[in-house]
Amino acid sequence: MSILYVDLRSLVKFNHKNRTPFLIGLVVGFTICNFVYFPTYFPTTYLGERRPRPPSYATMYNIIADPAKPLEPFNNTDPLSGYVNVLKDKAPFKRHCSVCALVSTSGHVLNYMAGEEIDQAECVIRMNHAPVDGFEKHVGTRTTVRVATHKNFEEAWRQITHIISTENLSNVFVWGPDRTMRTDGKGKTYNYLLSLAKASTDVEFYMLTPERMRYSHQLFDNETGLPRRPESDIYLSTGWFTMVLATEMCDQIKVYGMSNGDNCRDPNAYPAAYHYFHHFLDFQGRRKECDEYNRMENMKTGAHRFFAEKKVFGRWSKYHNITFHFPTWTPEE
Ligand SMILES: *[C@@H]1O[C@H](CO)[C@@H](O)[C@H](O)[C@H]1NC(C)=O
Ligand SMILES: *[C@@H]1O[C@H](CO)[C@@H](O)[C@H](O)[C@H]1NC(C)=O
Ligand SMILES: *[C@@H]1O[C@H](CO)[C@@H](O)[C@H](O)[C@H]1NC(C)=O
Ligand SMILES: *[C@@H]1O[C@H](CO)[C@@H](O)[C@H](O)[C@H]1NC(C)=O
Repeated sequence: MSILYVDLRSLVKFNHKNRTPFLIGLVVGFTICNFVYFPTYFPTTYLGERRPRPPSYATMYNIIADPAKPLEPFNNTDPLSGYVNVLKDKAPFKRHCSVCALVSTSGHVLNYMAGEEIDQAECVIRMNHAPVDGFEKHVGTRTTVRVATHKNFEEAWRQITHIISTENLSNVFVWGPDRTMRTDGKGKTYNYLLSLAKASTDVEFYMLTPERMRYSHQLFDNETGLPRRPESDIYLSTGWFTMVLATEMCDQIKVYGMSNGDNCRDPNAYPAAYHYFHHFLDFQGRRKECDEYNRMENMKTGAHRFFAEKKVFGRWSKYHNITFHFPTWTPEE
């Protein structure tokens, strides 16, 4: 034992003179270990490179077995019903566009400088608080419709207000479950939207009726062939609601910056940020798209199912004149 002790001492030269570097080394080593191993257990604290996990989205891919079919409409005679103005005495949403550009929030949009092309569409559809300011050459400048989630909408609104000063934003759609969108005074998000709508002169606020929300979930279940389950089990993405709206208001939909997820199977693919406005090494952004997709895929409840959603979008594209640009892909037969 004493021999080992002596050996160790000489190995690390553990004497008073260089104890400090040794201790610093110990602290640094411990910190590095934390960043390497912690994220495995707490993926949201992820700051560095995570050890790869086997992707499990294949399961979701295989669930979709039925032949593709057109989207089951919410209402045959009035496709845009179910979107109501937050102010009850105002008209429901009625806009129709020949060509829509649907701009993804993904980091992919930063690779193609598609801004000019996007601006040429009759209507431009954006999501959540994705900014235009500073990203014009990639995402264009115009916004006709913005679809946003109820989640952290107060926070998103602060961003959107800033965005409003630099773009002509006139229609904000907010989706959310009944508990937060109920109009009897107990819906937190609804109450907030109502106060914004009353104060605003240049923005129309729309929300999805409870029937619309139910329809959106049923649509997902039907398309994926998953058995019925409580709505809380699946957390549809804003992209899902946005794509459905786009099929109802646009003759042609050009989607920008939305991959089909195949890049996530390729370990050498250039990583895209989850959001184009958050660099994936930023403390705020700190997420790569594929990491985030796979992380959600591995969560049983309360997570988005991005791979399945995109698979469904690909299937709809055969019937609804949807094309995917930058990255360009055509759905498999
Ligand atoms: C569809 O919309 C029309 C017109 O708004 C309405 O009269 C009808 O009741 C709706 N149908 C359904 C099944 O909701
Ligand atoms: C913004 O709105 C103003 C007033 O409605 C209009 O004159 C202008 O052309 C719009 N700009 C864009 C980029 O749509
Ligand atoms: C889902 O499938 C059921 C059963 O076939 C059908 O009654 C319903 O209309 C479908 N709903 C949607 C939104 O696709
Ligand atoms: C999609 O829309 C464009 C423009 O209207 C049209 O030229 C094209 O034929 C349409 N494609 C399909 C498959 O309907």
